[in-house]
Amino acid sequence: MEKTVTEAIHYRRSTRVYKAEPIDDQKVKHCLKNATLAPTSSNLQLWEFYHITDKATLKQLAEACFNQSAVKTAQQLVVVVARKDLWRKRAKANIEFLNTVYNKPNLSERDLKRKKMATDYYAKLVPTLYIDCFGLLGFIKYIVFQIVGLFKPIYRQTRLSDMRIVAHKSAGLAAQNFMTSMAAVGYDTCPMEGSDTLRVKQILKLPRGAEINMVISCGIRDDKGIYGPRFRVPFEEVYVAV
Ligand SMILES: Cc1cc2nc3c(=O)[nH]c(=O)nc-3n(C[C@H](O)[C@H](O)[C@H](O)COP(=O)(O)O)c2cc1C
Repeated sequence: MEKTVTEAIHYRRSTRVYKAEPIDDQKVKHCLKNATLAPTSSNLQLWEFYHITDKATLKQLAEACFNQSAVKTAQQLVVVVARKDLWRKRAKANIEFLNTVYNKPNLSERDLKRKKMATDYYAKLVPTLYIDCFGLLGFIKYIVFQIVGLFKPIYRQTRLSDMRIVAHKSAGLAAQNFMTSMAAVGYDTCPMEGSDTLRVKQILKLPRGAEINMVISCGIRDDKGIYGPRFRVPFEEVYVAV
């Protein structure tokens, strides 16, 4: 039986040594399906999930992750990839989805309005935010938006670096969904940014625009793979009631 959300959150620990016991790749795939249900900025889903079970590729990736034991002893790996470069394709997919949702005769006034608003969002606003040219357009937009922002509330995160953060933020949420789902079925994980991302990209044959968000090792924890009790700063230090 699966753990409850709270149980899974408490069970999950970053695991640095796994047992030699294999894990079921279908279960891992199911957890990745849960990952894709994470919320995402503008529902653009600017991510991909590479599920690695091939031994030779696992070995290559272990080297690219500096031979960390969390990777060397892992049964499988998941690489979460941020794909900001796919924004046009994803915006189009959203518009197509809207067309199917509203594909019925005699749409009410309210539905027509909703369809137009949502379609405009993907056809006009999303391109305004995402179109860039080596960061130059993004910077110009940033300056313009800061000036407009003197007079009214406005979205300010328009620089190339801001848009990269937007994509990585959503990819991180998906990664967490994945790790919680894995914990729920008794599997363990370790999220890692300690990797040579260029090499990881080359091994997975990723295009230039793709960015490695996280490498997540997967398996079943060996007790010595949990490095000590969990440490968190006191809750009162990070909790602010307003
Ligand atoms: C973005 C990110 C990158 C991380 N990179 C590594 C890593 O490269 N190697 C590693 O052993 N652990 C890595 N960790 C795991 C953290 O060290 C771990 O989450 C933290 O110590 C808290 O422990 P817990 O996950 O067991 O609660 C990473 C975690 C996150 C969220």
